[in-house]
Amino acid sequence: MQFIYGARTLGFLEYVGRLWREHGDVFRVKLGPRTLLFAMHPDAVEHVNVSHRSNYDKLRSYDPVRKYLLGDGLVVSTGELWKRQRRLMAPFYTPKGVQAYAELMLRDGQRLIERWEGIAAKGAVVDISEEMTFVTASIILKAMFSTETIDSINEMKGAVETMISFASGQMTAVQLPTWVPTEKNRRYVAARTLVHRSIRTLIAQRRAMTESEWPDDLLSRLMKARDEESGQPMSESLLQDESITTFFAGHETTARTMTFALYALAANPTVAEKLRAELDRALGGRAVTVDDLRQLPYTLQVVKETLRMYPAAPFYIRDAVGADRIGGFDVEAGAGVMLSPYYTQRHPAFWENPSLFDPDRWTKDQESTRHPHAYHPFAGGPRICIGNNFSLLESHLLLALLAQRFVTKLRPGYVPQWEMQGTLHLGNGLPMTITAR
Ligand code: HEM
Repeated sequence: MQFIYGARTLGFLEYVGRLWREHGDVFRVKLGPRTLLFAMHPDAVEHVNVSHRSNYDKLRSYDPVRKYLLGDGLVVSTGELWKRQRRLMAPFYTPKGVQAYAELMLRDGQRLIERWEGIAAKGAVVDISEEMTFVTASIILKAMFSTETIDSINEMKGAVETMISFASGQMTAVQLPTWVPTEKNRRYVAARTLVHRSIRTLIAQRRAMTESEWPDDLLSRLMKARDEESGQPMSESLLQDESITTFFAGHETTARTMTFALYALAANPTVAEKLRAELDRALGGRAVTVDDLRQLPYTLQVVKETLRMYPAAPFYIRDAVGADRIGGFDVEAGAGVMLSPYYTQRHPAFWENPSLFDPDRWTKDQESTRHPHAYHPFAGGPRICIGNNFSLLESHLLLALLAQRFVTKLRPGYVPQWEMQGTLHLGNGLPMTITAR
């Protein structure tokens, strides 16, 4: 989407940045048929996510995603259903719970290293964004379904991506109903049929086995889970919605974070040197294991700083249930309130030299003195991203594996084009050369 600002046409990200500089921390923007209130100050983030959270829910703003992509999955469910599902799934995603997936993350990382050794030997240029999307899709599909074959990974990835792009199209413009046989509708319906059929087949295959033979993946855990009060298992359609939700929420965001981390390292050679020095000191050339992560704090600081400057979800929205006030502005019942990790995390009153990529901001001392809501790449309050530990573990491991073995360089003259396309995105991709260290 393009926006007119004075005499210029701007993308959404830049447009909102201009409005913030001009109007301050809270302002209204007319977007299509709706007027949204943007709130950039950390106090407003706290207000919406924590102290006044019962007034901010996921209502009409999420209808297209609900209808075309996620059904009743955790990202969009509300009320008692959300509470029950969140309680049920929380144990899978605790720092301890996600350790169960470290080995498969390392195995897929190792496969990527082998692939990159071939690319480095040829001196070829690769699009890092595609490389990262494949590896994170493969990890989440294995974590969910124990899917092993590359064809089934690519098939599922392609189909869910078609559904995502269709659902985003429905959010920005009025479209024809899906039964009208346009090319776009046909592609969407075919992709949805494939995804739903694949998940139902997987469920049926498990039901045909005894429970003790089920692989230990997220689908088995969802199928074994019982509601605390009724003792009932999840319905088949809810299993399907939660599976699509996990795939949707659980790979592209981490792929983007890894892509942006490799961009930031190439653009900041001093940081890259410090990172490699840590990896060489802690590992001495041997392959990283999950137990090594404690000895690699700077590697995690690079991930956290990447999520500050380039949060994969630069905006998220809540719908006001009743009237309220935020930062001196009236909020009407039903109004959309947009929060922005991208801009709050660059707020000059809370971040010194905010445009500098500086992982040293993430020492314990610095973290403890900061406003607790100045950083919200995973949202906050009870609806904080359930996958944050999964994603931090995955990024920590992948970055350690890749930076230990390779130097990735930008093409001379490359200028990143930051855009909003559902998630934060590099409009011109990230072509890089890979050199083995
Ligand atoms: C760097 C990676 C990630 C980022 C930046 C991220 C960011 C976010 C954000 C901002 C939200 C709140 C969205 C909203 O309220 O509108 C969210 C929710 C969610 N995320 Fe993530 N996420 C990441 C990785 C993951 C992973 C790996 C998973 C699953 C394995 C996941 C699963 C979810 C789910 C299920 C929710 C909904 C939680 C709820 O409402 O209870 N995310 N994420």
